[in-house]
Amino acid sequence: MKFFIDTANLEEITEANDLGILDGVTTNPSLMAKENITGKDAIIKHYKDICHIVNGPVSAEVITTDYKGMIEEGTRLSDLHHNIVVKVPMTPEGIKAIRYFSENKIRTNCTLIFSAGQAILAAKAGATYVSPFVGRLDDISADGIGLIAQIRRIYDNYNFETQILAASVRHPMHIIDCAEIGADVMTGPLKAIMQLAHHPLTDSGLAKFLADFEKGNK
Ligand code: E4P
Repeated sequence: MKFFIDTANLEEITEANDLGILDGVTTNPSLMAKENITGKDAIIKHYKDICHIVNGPVSAEVITTDYKGMIEEGTRLSDLHHNIVVKVPMTPEGIKAIRYFSENKIRTNCTLIFSAGQAILAAKAGATYVSPFVGRLDDISADGIGLIAQIRRIYDNYNFETQILAASVRHPMHIIDCAEIGADVMTGPLKAIMQLAHHPLTDSGLAKFLADFEKGNK
């Protein structure tokens, strides 16, 4: 399973990249705003900065909602850097735009997926990635991980090439569940990725090894 980091924070992206396990980045307009990246020029510069840190797909979301606007904006974003993947919302206009981008060899990430039906449409339109939002479904007492499993079965039935990018991942168990199901990619915050490394028995085991080394080498 590929690991993407879901942030626009350059320090966090660098930290995850330095671990050597980072495959890509997802951003969205809320994450950009959180970093106070506002205005067209600043946003474009920020996407370029991210692309220079990470050698992998970087999702950049369109903020236009009509077909023509999405095509123009998405093409401009894709021209910024070869790492850019155009993130398009799951709407009827978005589906048409994904079909256009797919026919023109521009990679897409169909975002805001909350049902299997939406995932089928995205795959049929030729999306490179489909982003079901696990955490936001859990937030409303629905089954986010269950949706990942359902989409996995459907895509396998028809050999859809669209990759399942489990999004809105909030904690380590989401990551492990996604891996068990066979999600192609997960995107989550740095904290959830780092939590995978921790286990109390690792900490106590290391402390004991170091203490025994000290004793033996006095
Ligand atoms: C997807 O690519 C989104 O950026 C993201 O995963 C949303 O996560 P959130 O529900 O934690 O905002």
